[in-house]
Amino acid sequence: MDMKLRDKVVVVTGGAGDIGAETSLEFLREGCKVAVCSRSQKSLDKFREKVSAEGFSVLTGVVNVRSQENLDQFAKKTADTYGGIDIWVNCHGIEGYSPLLECTEEFWDEVLDINLSGTWRGIKAAVPYMEKRGGGSIVNVSSFCSIVPTAKNGVYSISKAAVDSLTKVMAAELAPKNIRVNAVLPGFIATQMTADKVETIKDMLIQPISMRRLGNPGDIARGIVFLAGDGGRYIDGHALVISGGKFIVQNPQDPWNNYQGGY
Ligand SMILES: NC(=O)c1ccc[n+]([C@@H]2O[C@H](COP(=O)([O-])OP(=O)(O)OC[C@H]3O[C@@H](n4cnc5c(N)ncnc54)[C@H](OP(=O)(O)O)[C@@H]3O)[C@@H](O)[C@H]2O)c1
Repeated sequence: MDMKLRDKVVVVTGGAGDIGAETSLEFLREGCKVAVCSRSQKSLDKFREKVSAEGFSVLTGVVNVRSQENLDQFAKKTADTYGGIDIWVNCHGIEGYSPLLECTEEFWDEVLDINLSGTWRGIKAAVPYMEKRGGGSIVNVSSFCSIVPTAKNGVYSISKAAVDSLTKVMAAELAPKNIRVNAVLPGFIATQMTADKVETIKDMLIQPISMRRLGNPGDIARGIVFLAGDGGRYIDGHALVISGGKFIVQNPQDPWNNYQGGY
């Protein structure tokens, strides 16, 4: 399928992280002009090496999504360099385990400010440039935790549930401007964010997954590109679960084990 993405200008926040980097590369392979921002220069330097190895070049910038000014400046830099903005992917995010009763105010505020408010701020930075182009597409990276929250990871789950709601409301409010807003909900993806769990509890993590494997960043990148491009042209306000069939039934391992007894 031709995604009609050639020469589209794409911004990816958190674009030097594992899922963000793979997403940025996928857009580059589709012929897009890509601008990537991340919180640290170190991540961006590492990302640049990856991009150069494939023969591509990108615009990069250090941006803290807690600052509207940072995001506005990066959006302007992108539009000044590439002539506008067509697609914006909010892929930044943090997590951290803490039972809700033990969670500090500081941690609560930080997670919600980055994951939820940072996504809202990203959209605000993107919209003026999309309006000038006559439309655009925004994809927010939420999480499977937004529909089935994780105990001891409550603030993260709450922040992502709010991102789903933000996605729907923004989709409705931006539809008259011909801007679509969707979300992807990754299941468990093996990245830096999850490396410790992959190492210690991999077998447990695979149990609820029908496809019996953890996801990789490329699995999510393809979903994002599909939604942002022509594949998603009539999809708006949608939360696309990309999880290898996590919890689609109560006993996903039985068909693999040829268990005869039912559940
Ligand atoms: N991995 C999973 O299993 C999984 C599952 C569901 C959803 N997700 C979501 O997928 C997205 C990407 O996660 P990932 O697994 O690729 O993690 P990752 O490798 O840790 O990437 C996270 C990215 O967010 C950036 N970031 C964090 N705080 C920021 C801030 N204040 N301002 C700007 N950028 C900031 C990081 O920048 P620096 O590296 O420069 O600090 C990094 O580029 C996140 O939204 C995450 O919640 C991941």
